[in-house]
Amino acid sequence: MGRLLETEKLTIRFGGLAAVNEVDFTIDHGEAVGLIGPNGSGKTTFFNLLTGIYKPTGGVIRYCGESLVGLPTFKIAKQGVARTFQNNRLFLNLTVLDNVLIGMHPHQDSTWFDAVFRRSYVEKEVEQGVEKGLGLLSQFSQDLAKNCYQRAGDLPQADRRKLEICRALASNPRLLLLDEPSAGMTPAETEELMEDIRKVRQKIGGIGIIIIEHDMAVIREVAERVVVLNYGRKIAEGTFREISNNELVLEAYLGREEQDAQA
Ligand SMILES: Nc1ncnc2c1ncn2[C@@H]1O[C@H](COP(=O)(O)OP(=O)(O)OP(=O)(O)O)[C@@H](O)[C@H]1O
Ligand SMILES: [Mg+2]
Repeated sequence: MGRLLETEKLTIRFGGLAAVNEVDFTIDHGEAVGLIGPNGSGKTTFFNLLTGIYKPTGGVIRYCGESLVGLPTFKIAKQGVARTFQNNRLFLNLTVLDNVLIGMHPHQDSTWFDAVFRRSYVEKEVEQGVEKGLGLLSQFSQDLAKNCYQRAGDLPQADRRKLEICRALASNPRLLLLDEPSAGMTPAETEELMEDIRKVRQKIGGIGIIIIEHDMAVIREVAERVVVLNYGRKIAEGTFREISNNELVLEAYLGREEQDAQA
């Protein structure tokens, strides 16, 4: 199916540190790619570059053939790149449903003018939004749909992560970036998460997913290809099997563990 996103020599420096260093990366439509690496290897920074939170110091980001470099985050979102964050970024005081509705914002085009002079247009958009939001929630989890008027802050951690994925999906993304979705989940919740991701892929044909994970079971299960970062550089790429037998990868993880042990 064609290339969804590619980077060439993507680089960002913070002072002397190259947090992402000349990374060549590709993902095709419909593909799920795992992004792994020890703590501080540049995974989240890579997402921050793709979504326009940081501007690269060098290199290229091409999404559906066009450059994303220099675009503001909201434009990138509007083009169909959605993400979840390593630390939940939900509006904890709003309801579950409100959080999903906020996710639709990149595609709603009512303006203040409409709100004042074209009331019915806006009301229709809100109505459609609510319907779609409820649909998404119930596809994803009957529990979330049932509790759609509950405060997001009252949800258990696993449901918050689900809700964050729902919110990301509300913008109709073509590329979904998940930053450690299983963090803080029990093994049973993680199983459920993997099932949810499978469902998303089935339902939204052609969606590309890049998933950052420390839980290798999730990577093995979800990602058909894995890219490994270490100190900002791509050190390996291949199937889960291939990278788990790769000397550089083993060294990267072991090396860090030894450092941690000494610290
Ligand atoms: N805004 C910033 N200013 C300075 N340094 C930064 C900034 N953002 C990230 N870094 C540094 O870049 C490196 C990569 O960080 P990043 O958060 O991308 O790692 P990560 O692979 O996501 O790690 P983890 O697995 O712990 O989430 C780290 O050394 C971090 O301290
Ligand atoms: Mg991170």
